[in-house]
Amino acid sequence: MTRILAIETSCDETAAAVIEDGRRILSNVVASQVELHAEYGGVFPEMASRAHVEAIVPVIERTMEEAHLGFDDLNAIAVTYGPGLAGSLLVGVNAAKGLAVARNLPLIGINHLEAHVYAHWLEVEGDGAAQGNLTFPLLSLLVSGGHTELTLVRGHGDYEHLGSTLDDAAGEAFDKVGRLLGLPYPGGPEIERVAQNGNPQAFSFPRSWLDDKEPGTGEALGRSRGPHAWDFSFSGLKTAVLRQVQKYSDPPRGKLLADLAASFQAAVVDVLSAKAAWAAEAFAANAVLLSGGVTANQTLRKTTVERVKVPVYYPPIFLCTDNAAMVGACAHRHFIAEKIGPHARSGLDLDVVTGLRLG
Ligand code: KG4
Ligand code: ZN
Repeated sequence: MTRILAIETSCDETAAAVIEDGRRILSNVVASQVELHAEYGGVFPEMASRAHVEAIVPVIERTMEEAHLGFDDLNAIAVTYGPGLAGSLLVGVNAAKGLAVARNLPLIGINHLEAHVYAHWLEVEGDGAAQGNLTFPLLSLLVSGGHTELTLVRGHGDYEHLGSTLDDAAGEAFDKVGRLLGLPYPGGPEIERVAQNGNPQAFSFPRSWLDDKEPGTGEALGRSRGPHAWDFSFSGLKTAVLRQVQKYSDPPRGKLLADLAASFQAAVVDVLSAKAAWAAEAFAANAVLLSGGVTANQTLRKTTVERVKVPVYYPPIFLCTDNAAMVGACAHRHFIAEKIGPHARSGLDLDVVTGLRLG
């Protein structure tokens, strides 16, 4: 049996968890800073690192208390070392180093993008949970405020990067458009809420296919693809929403607001779900794994399930958004098979890598 204390501070959540055998969540604590950053309409890096400094010790203490364990019951300390904000990552990495030295435990540095994939290995209830039915190859679509990543997972620790965003991340696009529409931060859940009363076809906002044909034409698969076929771009869409908003002197309200939100959401969901479906087919994936905060979006889930021919898994929201349980699940794989990844057992010289990639 292995028990790993995992720490995550890459962006604006201070999180810790204890994971048993890579699957069982013994405790999982997240201190969110969302209210702190709401005032600025996005994550303010300097404030994020200060808030991590304040929260990290209480979060770890609560995590150990809720797991009913002492540090002697642990086999390793895992921590996200990238990608993310330098000042935020440093808080988690240094806390983890301190614990590893003090308790003479191995330190395992974890790639945040890989951790999101391993959220699917955690034992949880719920409709979209994989419940252990995972056979490689798998296609991972990570959509959050900081990332839009399409990755082929050929096996444990064996990744092929297919595409990512050329400009804004999907969640960032939701947040920026939310602001254009006069909605509070974070924009994603707000846009989804007001879009419920809107017509997704009211505005035909642009979709950046970046080489592929529109879904349903049958031309997307089998044709030779350009270098950006699996990439994403949302900045043109954001500008298109801005142009509509500028036509009116006041912030949009009522039916207009609902139609703008619904049409914007439809454009983002269309591209994400279409590329996931094409890639799943092109790479013969056995399932599609959705993760990241944007996965909370019901239209995205529903449309992806409809379009993809293999099962689509999405963990419960608390495991889609940033958390340390997924870091612990990922660390377990590194712990039991040191050949996976270069940081199976990291030295105390482990440094943060803000631009770390996967595959
Ligand atoms: O994974 P996450 O909690 O944090 C990181 O970015 O790392 O994702 C937050 C992002 C925000 O951009 C937020 O607007 C978006 O996820 N989001 C949503 C929804 N809920 C959260 N986007 C669309 N629809 C939602 N229901
Ligand atoms: Zn994340």
